[in-house]
Amino acid sequence: MSPVIIAIDGPAASGKSSTARAVAAGLGFRHLDSGALYRGVTLAAVRAGLPRPFYAADVVAEAERWGVDLRPRNGDFEVVAMEPVPDASLRAAVVTEHVSEIAALAEVRGWVNEHLRGAALVGEAVVVDGRDIGSVVFPEAQLKVYLTASPAARAGRRLRQRGEAVDPEQLRVETEALAARDRADSSRAVAPLVQAPDAVALDTSDLSFEEQVERIRWLARDRGLAIHD
Ligand code: DC
Repeated sequence: MSPVIIAIDGPAASGKSSTARAVAAGLGFRHLDSGALYRGVTLAAVRAGLPRPFYAADVVAEAERWGVDLRPRNGDFEVVAMEPVPDASLRAAVVTEHVSEIAALAEVRGWVNEHLRGAALVGEAVVVDGRDIGSVVFPEAQLKVYLTASPAARAGRRLRQRGEAVDPEQLRVETEALAARDRADSSRAVAPLVQAPDAVALDTSDLSFEEQVERIRWLARDRGLAIHD
């Protein structure tokens, strides 16, 4: 039986991963964070000391050599490189610095997509978040949500998340950084960030976290996708 898939895409800091995790927990689905796998591949490339610019074939070879993969765990999947990779390593500054360049390589995207599809088969019912999940990886997803929020709203959330001051200057700098990442993600040649034509757009600028999670759970229930609720 083909798995039930809810795809949640959107720009940086739109709250995709935390929203996807909460939606999955509420519906009894497994959460699959595609960005985490791009980070795992990037970590392997960095640990291997690959020189820049990165070449796709070398990056894929290192991902294979380090045994980068997704392994089912309670309620989600963990990134492994033979051993489980701690979240702190996936989110280390050096990984964040290089992951966009690596995620722009077509052959790397093909490798990641294969692993995401394999994981979904194990998961049976998954909420997958990323940039191209509804448009490229799982075009057959039963529900596709495109999360948006104004750059200023996303910048404010990110600063609060980091426990930093939300003064006008900080907000301006963070808003500009996010707008630059949006431009990079939306203009890259391979699998740019786009809203799939059949995705439901959800602007969360004025929604609380609980409200945005509830909207998506409502959409899932409306389509008869909830396992338990
Ligand atoms: O969501 P995140 O910050 O963990 O994603 C890490 C990087 O991977 C980010 O630069 C965007 C990229 N990415 C992607 O290109 N496609 C996806 N489906 C998920 C993430």
